[in-house]
Amino acid sequence: MRILLLTHSFNSLAQRLWCELGARGHTVSVEFDISDEVTHEAVALFQPDVVLAPFLKRAIPESIWSQYLCWVVHPGVEGDRGPSALDWAIQNGEPTWGVTVLQAQAEMDAGPVWASATFATRAVKKSSLYRNEVTEAAVQCVLNALERRQSGTFTPRQVSGQAHALMRQSDRAIDWATQTTAQILARIHAADGFPGVADALFGEPCHLFDAWPEAQLRGAPGTLLGRRATAVLRATADGAVWIGHVKRPESIKLPATLAFAQADALPELPLAPWWKAGHATWQDIAYSEADGVGLLDFEFYNGAMGTVQCQRLRQAFDFAASRATRVIVLRGGADFWSNGIHLNLIEAASSPADESWANIFAMDDLAEAILRCESHLTVAAMHAGAGAGGCFLARCADLVWLREGVMLNPHYKNMGNLFGSEFWTYLLPARVGPEGAQRIMQRRLPMTAAEAVHSGFYDECLPGAGFAESVLRRAGQLAESADLAERMAAKRAKRQSDEAAQPLAQYRAQELQQMQRNFYGFDASYHIARHHFVARSPHSWTPRHLAIHRDLGWNSPS
Ligand code: COA
Repeated sequence: MRILLLTHSFNSLAQRLWCELGARGHTVSVEFDISDEVTHEAVALFQPDVVLAPFLKRAIPESIWSQYLCWVVHPGVEGDRGPSALDWAIQNGEPTWGVTVLQAQAEMDAGPVWASATFATRAVKKSSLYRNEVTEAAVQCVLNALERRQSGTFTPRQVSGQAHALMRQSDRAIDWATQTTAQILARIHAADGFPGVADALFGEPCHLFDAWPEAQLRGAPGTLLGRRATAVLRATADGAVWIGHVKRPESIKLPATLAFAQADALPELPLAPWWKAGHATWQDIAYSEADGVGLLDFEFYNGAMGTVQCQRLRQAFDFAASRATRVIVLRGGADFWSNGIHLNLIEAASSPADESWANIFAMDDLAEAILRCESHLTVAAMHAGAGAGGCFLARCADLVWLREGVMLNPHYKNMGNLFGSEFWTYLLPARVGPEGAQRIMQRRLPMTAAEAVHSGFYDECLPGAGFAESVLRRAGQLAESADLAERMAAKRAKRQSDEAAQPLAQYRAQELQQMQRNFYGFDASYHIARHHFVARSPHSWTPRHLAIHRDLGWNSPS
């Protein structure tokens, strides 16, 4: 079928649908929902069988839905209608929630239902629920709906329901004196990563994001108790909550301790490096061991890794490599494995070019430490997706295992034609061949876990259910395997012969020479693209590589 994805942006769900539908032989094109006029032009050019709207911020115009079959992916159970669907579900503590694919018509989310699915919710950030449960359910629903459409016998059902209102900041407000940790967490989770909860820190207004529970420390409700790395700790009625990120008026989202200089005066509340704390708290880097395996978790907000985070992670990796274990598993964070250098910190720096340079150096140092590790077999276990440099950082490990359904963007050019580093010029062609590498870099398209393994870039795709357990089991088996010494010898020999062919230092220098042009050269594309990315500027056009209906002669028989 010919499917037009009409979407506010090419977000993770739109990317996943694009991949899944394309893999099933459908012809998929994308148009961003910029204006009715642009949408009319797109449908006229593409003549879609279905207009599929995975992520819209406004209604589809009647002139479109009255002429074309239009499906809206609504992140709510059957009968749920209106905006802020997930926000209400999380804030109200719904134990189960769902996704519905509805046919668009005059009243928002009130059209006939083509498919629906439910899932058990978790007490996590909205963005996390969206990237995991909602996305899986949405893919399932869209595939079911397409099957039903193709069967020609299915009649979508009209379902009665009640529309809820847009959640306002007054609905989200926190009362630190009376609300418990669980209540406050639910509020901040329901508003993460947009719009955040309007509140104040140090007496100044800001929106709160990235909250974590604290099980041991407490104080007078509402007071700030201390800081740890990038987060501040605030007491609730029955405990305390860590606030990792804030957005101050007229600013971008930043780590709380950077956004407020006043945080310097708070007492530092350190944890012993790098061992995982035995109680609930905020810990961005946590090391633990099981069955001869070292496990390194790094929970960086949005997968963004700033200069200091890369340096600290490198220290933690060195620590892991100093232990008497045999395998190190790099597990990343719950929502992203890594998205490369920290574009918000770079944007906020007094010299974004200097900060970009420092960040990529620290990232390359980390990548090099993993590549040069001779004491352990290393595994990147990707429970969550990765983008740009994060994809190549994972490939520095000897083995990469991914959870089925994870989305990857192993390219850099979408960020103002960035060349990229993290040794990609060494790692990618070796796995997919020089032409394959060029294709991946030039096409700038997302890839599913299955595609990444099929192309040879990564090693194995594991089922979503029980992913963490199978990683532990497999890593334990590797650590105990009779041929581990042989494997390690082969690994060292391979590194030596690769080094003789072309030293890592040379790959790094060549990549950084290009990056220096991106950061300091006269072409400011990277700085402009980064600015729009961190400011979340609305799109004014759809990238041509996504809008295939805009290619001349796209539809003519070849
Ligand atoms: N630095 C800072 N913030 C980042 C980031 C980075 N490298 N990568 C992602 N983010 C943030 C986004 O700004 C967004 O912030 P929000 O909480 O305000 O919404 C959040 O992470 C989620 O990103 P989003 O783009 O909405 O997620 P997605 O799943 O749709 O797309 C990517 C994932 C990786 C494709 C996309 O985020 C991306 O292209 N990131 C930039 C990668 C990059 O160029 N890195 C630098 C070169 S190494």
